[in-house]
Amino acid sequence: MIVCSCNALTHHDVEHAVEGGASRPAEIYAARGCRAECGNCVPGVVCMLREIRDARRAVMAAARRAVMTTEAAACH
Ligand code: FES
Repeated sequence: MIVCSCNALTHHDVEHAVEGGASRPAEIYAARGCRAECGNCVPGVVCMLREIRDARRAVMAAARRAVMTTEAAACH
């Protein structure tokens, strides 16, 4: 799905940039070698950035809980 029509930036591009360490909209555009032009997409990019970050935190928290549960079970 196209997120930024000025730069043909897709949802996948945003995810890929975040996976590569982008944490700000400018870094997401830079990962594709572009920058915001009209700016209409920036609020959506910020929202996607937060959603991806929140999802990653949830996965990390679940992984930590699983490790702690496994370690606790190993102690008994
Ligand atoms: S739609 Fe992204 S800069 Fe214009």
